[in-house]
Amino acid sequence: MTRVTRRYKFAASHRLHSGHFSGEENQALYGKCNNPYGHGHDYVLDVSVSGPVDAASGQVVNIQILDRLVGEQILRDFDHTYLNVDVREFGDVVPTSENIIRVMQDRLQAHWQASFAGEWPRLEKIRLRETKRNTFELAS
Ligand code: NI
Repeated sequence: MTRVTRRYKFAASHRLHSGHFSGEENQALYGKCNNPYGHGHDYVLDVSVSGPVDAASGQVVNIQILDRLVGEQILRDFDHTYLNVDVREFGDVVPTSENIIRVMQDRLQAHWQASFAGEWPRLEKIRLRETKRNTFELAS
């Protein structure tokens, strides 16, 4: 089994604020990330897929198909947006990186079979880098 990781980049802004908490509690919980007008990140998304190397193509995954899937399901909706407002899943879900990466995985899995009809390749893991110090991973 070979794992292939493809890197994508996008920029987006967000504000961490939960309707479950008071204004003071939000400030205490999220600090500067709760500031009213939000802030941006240059996110790095690594999508890892795995499978056997196809004898004919010599490849694990058709990168063009993967690029189209990630482009249509993630980058088109996320890049240069205000996540809280522009991405429907965050209507009442705080756009923390933990939630962002889960939304991304849900989207990829929901459309995976339409892009990759066979048993392989499988979506193995996605990793989202928010800042130099914060990276989040979600295994499939
Ligand atoms: Ni942030």
